[in-house]
Amino acid sequence: MEHLLIPKHLSIIMDGNGRWAEKKNLPRFEGHKAGLKAVRMVTSESIKAGIKYLTLYAFSTENWKRPQEEVSSLMNLFQEIIEKEKKDLLDNRIKVMFIGQREKLSLPLRLAMTNIEEETKHNSNLVLNIAINYGGRAELCSALKSIGEIILQGNIVPSQITQNLISEHLFTAGLPDPDLLIRTGGELRISNFLLWQIAYTELWFTKTFWPDFSKKQFWQAINDYEKRVRKFGGKI
Ligand code: IPE
Ligand code: IPE
Ligand code: MG
Repeated sequence: MEHLLIPKHLSIIMDGNGRWAEKKNLPRFEGHKAGLKAVRMVTSESIKAGIKYLTLYAFSTENWKRPQEEVSSLMNLFQEIIEKEKKDLLDNRIKVMFIGQREKLSLPLRLAMTNIEEETKHNSNLVLNIAINYGGRAELCSALKSIGEIILQGNIVPSQITQNLISEHLFTAGLPDPDLLIRTGGELRISNFLLWQIAYTELWFTKTFWPDFSKKQFWQAINDYEKRVRKFGGKI
């Protein structure tokens, strides 16, 4: 089913878990747990579609503002999921990567992350890139700090800073920019996701809460993307 017009890199803001649970009179945490089903679905459909990179926004640098109970249950859930999904990820030859600042995460979670990255690093079916404690602005700050160090060491002068150099110092170094960004949950905003990388990304929004995001909607987004005319500022 591989297709020239299929996005090479799909990114998703998986939003609406809390409201999904509240609507059902369940604790918000149940919404986060229920979101795993949609993660599995988009991962396997992405492989079928021929998508090569799938980036999922799981936790932002601003999500620490939430009640401590919600934050810690989410962190435990991430660790559990990584451990539980390992076999399937290996069987499906998926390469797992994480973007975001890891220092603030618990040691057991960080170990689970580096372990799955290490074990899956030679896989090439799909790159599954998960954003945990990720913020676009924090990412740009850290890129500027590393470039500042390179300048201080005398390796380059400021006039040699290029767009490529900046891209190479982001957490997403080596990945192409996303072609398509899907946001579920009804909000029409970016919420600090991939600010630099989405300069020319096609955007697709749905009101559906993340745990209810279906195969049908996944393919609807892909079909809509195929009809978009991408101009990158030029004339077609
Ligand atoms: C997205 O769902 C998941 C995370 C941000 C961790 P939300 O928890 O933001 O759900 P809503 O937007 O409150 O419904
Ligand atoms: C964005 O959703 C972050 C993730 C989906 C992980 P939020 O729920 O945090 O975004 P806002 O607060 O509605 O902008
Ligand atoms: Mg939300």
